[in-house]
Amino acid sequence: EAILSTENIGKNIIYKKEVTSTQALAHDMARNDASEGTLVVADYQQKGKGRLGREWHSPPGTGLWFSLILRPDIPPQKAPQLTLLTAVAVTEGINKAAGIEAQIKWPNDILIDGKKTAGILTEMQSEPDRVQAVIVGIGININQQPEHFPELLLSKATSLSIAKENKIFSRAKVIAAILERYEDWYYQYLIDGFEQVRKRWEELAVTIGKEITATTVTKTVEGLAQGITEDGVLLLKKKDGQIEHIYSADIH
Ligand code: BTN
Repeated sequence: EAILSTENIGKNIIYKKEVTSTQALAHDMARNDASEGTLVVADYQQKGKGRLGREWHSPPGTGLWFSLILRPDIPPQKAPQLTLLTAVAVTEGINKAAGIEAQIKWPNDILIDGKKTAGILTEMQSEPDRVQAVIVGIGININQQPEHFPELLLSKATSLSIAKENKIFSRAKVIAAILERYEDWYYQYLIDGFEQVRKRWEELAVTIGKEITATTVTKTVEGLAQGITEDGVLLLKKKDGQIEHIYSADIH
């Protein structure tokens, strides 16, 4: 149905009709020496994992639920850069396959028309000074129709189909486009470093240049989102001119 032209990313594909979570399965496989680029993809996840311990709703057949195993030779503190790289590759892949202008909301939600259509969960297996594996989990709402979303969610979430007049997309084509963008960005990053990824991320981000409110565990900060650092930290310029570094927060 779709031709995948990548060399490493998605070279090994583990496809399951039903799974607890592709992320959990990919973790197990990584511990058992699965090679870089192994892709675990499922039609349905009984218990999809979202960020911050949330559940990720993964109904059968309508979305893309997959996890990629990477083995980058980078120190563990640089692994968050891969989350931003992933957001860039997913956004570009969606834009290419669906002809839609998706955008990134810091740190790594993918939005269409201001509503979330995809989420990214990056986890790692590491020793103190060495990454053993990075497991990148990606969930994308593709063919869900409005009736698939509970009323409350519909104001905050969307799917490619809803964004494109209920057109039904080939999930194979969407994932192929994403994996191709992924392979380009990932190997360029390993050779040249993060700067190109950072620049592209800022171009694709809705957040940058806007007045935002960031709610962290301890406080709420308002200011102008100026950009991200080398580590993916959000820089917020407050009214008094001070720059606040936001490491983790919900923003709007
Ligand atoms: C988020 O909270 O925004 C991140 C959601 C990540 C969901 C994906 S679906 C495929 C992979 N397997 C999981 O259990 N979670 C990730």
